[in-house]
Amino acid sequence: MEIVILRDAHEVGRTAASAVAALLARRPDAVLGLATGSSPLPVYDELARLHAEDGLDFSRASGFALDEYVGLPGDHPESYRSVIRRDFAERVNIDPVRVHSPDGAAADLEDACARYEQAILDAGGVDLQILGIGTDGHIGFNEPGSSLASRTRIKTLTEQTRRDNARFFSSIDEVPHHVVTQGVGTIMAARHVVLVATGAVKAGAVHGLVEGPVTAMCVASVLQFHPHATVIVDEAAASAL
Ligand code: GLP
Repeated sequence: MEIVILRDAHEVGRTAASAVAALLARRPDAVLGLATGSSPLPVYDELARLHAEDGLDFSRASGFALDEYVGLPGDHPESYRSVIRRDFAERVNIDPVRVHSPDGAAADLEDACARYEQAILDAGGVDLQILGIGTDGHIGFNEPGSSLASRTRIKTLTEQTRRDNARFFSSIDEVPHHVVTQGVGTIMAARHVVLVATGAVKAGAVHGLVEGPVTAMCVASVLQFHPHATVIVDEAAASAL
C-alpha cells in the first residue's frame, strides 16, 4: 500500500486525478470505478479541468458507481446515479450510456445486484477504482462487519452513516436505511484502488485503514492486502498515523 500525504484537499484531488489521466493516456477505453461523497469532489473538479483545458478524453472510457440507495427513484437529486452524473459525468465527455449504477429501485434487488456484477465482468473489470472512506472505515457502503469476500448486494446502513449522510437530505428521516453496494470482494478485484480522504474527521478511519489490523470492523483495512492500492490523504486525515 502506498501512502501519499499532501497539504490539502486540492492537492489530494490533483494527485488522484493525475493517476486517472495517466491511465487514460495508456488506455483510452479504461474502466473507472466511481465513488460519491465529498472526498472525491476535488478529484472530479480536477478531471473536469483537465478535460476542459488539456483535452483529457473520456470518449472511450466507461464508469461503474460503487453503490446506490434503495428506494430513491433514479432521478432523485440525491440518488448516487444523479450525483455521479452531476459531479463527474456531465463535466467530461464520457458517454452517459457507459456510466453505470446499481439499480436501487429494481423490483428484484437480488437480480439487479447479480446483473451489476456481471456488467462489471463483461466490461473487463475495473481498471482504477476511486474510493472514499466512511468515518467507521466503510468503503462503498460496506459497513463494519461486512464479509471481506462479499459481492454486490443489499446492505443496511448504520445509524452513524445515516447521520453522516443526513447533510445531503433535508432531514435524517429522509436518508434511506438500505443500499445496494459493490461488495468488498468486488472492490478488491479492481486493478488499482485510489482511496482519497481529507479532514480530521477521517483520521481514525485512516489509522484503521493503514495501521490497524485487517478486520471486518474497519472494512477499508482489507486494502492492506490489495496488490496496488494508493491512499492519498491530507495532513489532517493523516494526523493519527
Ligand atoms: C458514503 C459513500 C462512500 C463514501 C462515504 C464518505 O457513505 N457510500 O462511498 O466514501 O460516504 O463520504 P464523504 O467523502 O462525503 O465523507
